[in-house]
Amino acid sequence: MNPTEGKKKRIRLLFVCLGNICRSPAAEGIMSGIVSKNELQDIIEVDSAGTSGWHQGDLPDERMRSHGEKRGYDFCSRARKFKKTDFNDFDYIIVMDENNYHTVKSLVSGKEQADKIHLMTEFSVQFNNHDNIPDPYYGGSTGFELVLDLLEDACEGLLQVIKKKHSLY
Ligand code: 4NP
Repeated sequence: MNPTEGKKKRIRLLFVCLGNICRSPAAEGIMSGIVSKNELQDIIEVDSAGTSGWHQGDLPDERMRSHGEKRGYDFCSRARKFKKTDFNDFDYIIVMDENNYHTVKSLVSGKEQADKIHLMTEFSVQFNNHDNIPDPYYGGSTGFELVLDLLEDACEGLLQVIKKKHSLY
């Protein structure tokens, strides 16, 4: 028997923000937890990147790590810059705000790649009055808490959309 027979194709998600040290690594950590809780870790892969390379190799921002810890998360990915080959390596490129959207969009080749780009807030369920995940970097604790609230909600919504679209029941 062909060893790949019966195996589902992996679904690869890439979360993108500006620095890859606040919003997108938090989205990556939250989504990984939800994916594991749903026992889908062999089917759904999660990663994150920044449109800038300013913090390349860094752990997530201390403030984001400590706000995450209070909710039971360990955000520990290393920052990297978004690259054009990510369009081939991922199925969903999920950006946090319109600036990220325009930067990523400026790098696409063709409709198939363009169709992979989504705004994170497209998947919001409870917090459906926000049209982006606001950059918390220059603000205080409330901004970080809001980011986590929005991401937890949108990650749950994203999983529901993926389950439906890819018949993962
Ligand atoms: P992020 O936040 O895009 O959510 O990672 C930022 C991180 C760093 C900077 C801006 C936003 N910065 O200006 O260095």
